[in-house]
Amino acid sequence: FTILIANGPNLGHIGRRQPEIYGSRSLADLPELIRDILGPEKAGRITLGHFQANGEGQLIDRLEEAMRQGVDGIVLNAGAYTHTSLALADCLAWIGIPCVEVHLSNILARSDEPLRHKSLIGRSCLGVIAGFGLHSYALGVCALWQRFMDTAQ
Ligand code: DQA
Repeated sequence: FTILIANGPNLGHIGRRQPEIYGSRSLADLPELIRDILGPEKAGRITLGHFQANGEGQLIDRLEEAMRQGVDGIVLNAGAYTHTSLALADCLAWIGIPCVEVHLSNILARSDEPLRHKSLIGRSCLGVIAGFGLHSYALGVCALWQRFMDTAQ
């Protein structure tokens, strides 16, 4: 199974950006977290790709490319575009790739910033995982794995 980890704006330095909010693990730790949860055998059947872009159009271009490539699933942290991008939502709505929306922080618990409580992209995703730092991504990969297993039967 191929899974694309797609990160939006300001997510090119995970682990260094405001670690008190977003945690201090870097994306390089992700394969290990996935192995810890799924075990080496299942984790070994997953091929991870990674893409990060600060621009909305670049992200949409990459998601369309993922469709052409036949990528099986997407774990998407759209950063602030989560809350603003109808264009990204429109893209997810038609490309037909199962997607899990993830966030490092618990966007619903950021009570001083109600703008962050709304997701425009969520309704085009299988589900949302937020608040577990880099583990949100690992859990997103596991959720996709589970979906693959369920639909393979
Ligand atoms: C974020 C939450 C967003 O509100 C914010 O704009 C980000 C990161 C997160 O991972 O917690 O850039 O998506």
